[in-house]
Amino acid sequence: MIAFDDMRGYIQLLKSKDQLKEIDIELNVARGTTELQPLMRFIHNSNGPALMLNNLSGYNCPDIPVLFNPYGTRERTSMILGKEDPLESKLRHAEVLTDKSLWHKPRKIESSKAPCKEIKIERKDIDIGKQLPHVWFGKEGPAYITNAVVITKDPETGIPNTGCYRLTQLWNASHPHGDVYSEDEQKKCLSIFAFWNPPGNDVGIHWAKAQEMKQPLEVAIACIVDPVVQIAAATSIAFGLDEMDFAGGLRGAPVDVVDCETIDIAVPATAEWILEGKFLPDQDVTIGPHSNPVGYYDDAQLFPLIEIQSITHRKNPIWYSTMEMQPPFDHNYMACMPIEGELLSDLQAKIPEVQDVVVTPNLSYFVQLSVDGAQKPHSEFGKFVLQSVWDASGRWGKTAKIVVVVGPDVNPYDLSEVEWAINTRVQPYTDSIINKSGHAFLMDPSAEKDPGHGIALQSEQIGFDATIKIPERFQSYPEYSNADAEDVEAIAEKFKGLL
Ligand SMILES: Cc1cc2nc3c(=O)[nH]c(=O)nc-3n(C[C@H](O)[C@H](O)[C@H](O)COP(=O)(O)O)c2cc1C
Repeated sequence: MIAFDDMRGYIQLLKSKDQLKEIDIELNVARGTTELQPLMRFIHNSNGPALMLNNLSGYNCPDIPVLFNPYGTRERTSMILGKEDPLESKLRHAEVLTDKSLWHKPRKIESSKAPCKEIKIERKDIDIGKQLPHVWFGKEGPAYITNAVVITKDPETGIPNTGCYRLTQLWNASHPHGDVYSEDEQKKCLSIFAFWNPPGNDVGIHWAKAQEMKQPLEVAIACIVDPVVQIAAATSIAFGLDEMDFAGGLRGAPVDVVDCETIDIAVPATAEWILEGKFLPDQDVTIGPHSNPVGYYDDAQLFPLIEIQSITHRKNPIWYSTMEMQPPFDHNYMACMPIEGELLSDLQAKIPEVQDVVVTPNLSYFVQLSVDGAQKPHSEFGKFVLQSVWDASGRWGKTAKIVVVVGPDVNPYDLSEVEWAINTRVQPYTDSIINKSGHAFLMDPSAEKDPGHGIALQSEQIGFDATIKIPERFQSYPEYSNADAEDVEAIAEKFKGLL
């Protein structure tokens, strides 16, 4: 069972494991001079801990501390699901995803008991530049909200969807074409990364439907929730299912939710902040540059606008800020773990020999099998697995640009071992598949972009079958030369303190 109900509980868990440090030295987060991007690089170069930044300058909310890098390792991300081993946490994620009898519907609680309602700001008083923390990360135009889960209801069926999407704040933002955001936009509006082209997101589909039906679309934005809810929101479960039910399954208990103040949506009661609003028809805004998850700046993108009409938050709230850059960075692991779980759930149902799936921070996909060589069920089995990744359910398997299938003796978490397997088990022409018309990862700068929305739709893909080619080409393979892990441990013990 998971030992926390909110981000504060997860922070306590990290502290108890010496995985979170309080930082009181001054750090600048202002647009143009921010120190957060170098801090992210520095902390990832050393596999460092989570930080609570208590002394920020160039900051509009100096009393609100900023949580930084909580998910920055596979181990910490696994702790969200109550495990420390990455494979165990993925298997748990995959198990709950597969078996819907484990899911729990959320439990509604009274408003007076919901921590997220401790402080209320009404529509007439909303001034986002004063009330919501703004921190810049690199050279991006707006300050982002990267900590939120976004809840909307399907305008046709009323079924809610919870997704983890970035939002931008327009207060004090620079415009990519030199325009100025209006006073009203700066005070009351956010824009949201909603995509409706494949592989689009569900909020994009809701918004497209609402526009078609000429109906308004209400939206609740819950910032800094129980990380289990965020993992569920970052999982692409089938359209029409509610991620909040899946989150209950992952927790092993329902998520407590509470009704919004001004709209017909229920939100996680222990969130630090709740923003309520509605999409504004025909008022898309251009934002940029945007520091993206493949490590480049997108110049300009066009996204819908949301008007905020209520803000509630906890007493002494915290903020959590993360952002993309050249990987690895903090929320790589938070974004990749649900993809790994999705693929494990899908592939294991069809191919029991799939043992682990590792999606690297740079979005390479490594599939480890429990068999190799003569134990493979049929020849060209590796290629069958490659095709199955591109064919898997969920949003991202189809966008895998580089996929490698390895046997059980190759550690998929170790790039050097995967490279060794490619070099010693693959003939590039015979043992690869090149797919010329795959789905693109939306922000891959090497794929052509849709001129309207600035995202890539189609990409070439390559898969390597790095299994041992028995029975395909050989009857035996040379014995490999390496020390046993146990012997390495024994020798390390012998050398303790000597070197
Ligand atoms: C921190 C973080 C930020 C993300 N930002 C976006 C985003 O801005 N747009 C998007 O489409 N997906 C984003 N994702 C991935 C989606 O959350 C994920 O694909 C999820 O399945 C989408 O939910 P949906 O299937 O209900 O649309 C992000 C994931 C994480 C962990």
